[in-house]
Amino acid sequence: MNIRREDVKQLYSKEQIQEKIKEMGQQITQRYSGSKAPLHMVCVLKGSVHFFSDLLLSIEADVNYSFIQVASYKGTASSGRINVKSWIDEPIQDKNVIVVEDILDTGRTLKYILNYLSRYKPATLEVATLVDKYEKAHFGITPKYVGFETKDRFLLGYGLDFDQKFRNLPFIGYVDSGD
Ligand code: IMP
Ligand code: MG
Repeated sequence: MNIRREDVKQLYSKEQIQEKIKEMGQQITQRYSGSKAPLHMVCVLKGSVHFFSDLLLSIEADVNYSFIQVASYKGTASSGRINVKSWIDEPIQDKNVIVVEDILDTGRTLKYILNYLSRYKPATLEVATLVDKYEKAHFGITPKYVGFETKDRFLLGYGLDFDQKFRNLPFIGYVDSGD
C-alpha cells in the first residue's frame, strides 16, 4: 500500500490533541500530588515522542523520564514479534510509574512491557495512551489515562507512522478507504 500525504484525512486536530493532553496532565498532577513516591514516566518510542513531550510539559510536578523502544509492527498489521531495542535506565522500585503509549491496539507490546516493569516492584504502574482502539481487548490492559477512544482503523500522524512515515503530521488522521 502506498499512502500519500494528501490522502490523509484529519480525525483529531492539533488543538483537540492539545486540549486532551492538558486535561490528562491535570489529572496526573492531581492524582499523584499526595504521594510520597516519585513519579517516573516511561516513553514508548518512537510513536509516543510528541505525546510524551507535550504531556510532560503539562504536568505540574517533578517527573523523571525513561525511554524504551520495542518494535512489533510492520505496515498496518501487527506482526506479533517483539524486539527490545532500548530499555529503562533508572530503577523504578517504589516509584509511581506511568507508561506512555501513542495508541493501544492489540496491546501485545504493552503487555510485554508491563509484565517486565512489574517485576521491578514499582509502587504503582499505570498506562497513559493518547488513543485507545476500544473495540480491541488489549490482553486485559485497562489504561488509566486515555485521550481519544476510536474505532478499529489505522491512524497516522502526531507520532503514529506507516512504515516510519507521517510521524510529523501535526494532527492525527486516517486514510479514507471509501467505507
Ligand atoms: P499493539 O501491540 O498492537 O497494541 O500495537 C503496537 C504499536 O503499533 C503501537 O504502540 C503503535 O506504535 C503501533 N500502532 C498500533 N495501531 C496503530 C495505528 O493505527 N497507526 C499507527 N501505528 C499503530
Ligand atoms: Mg509504532
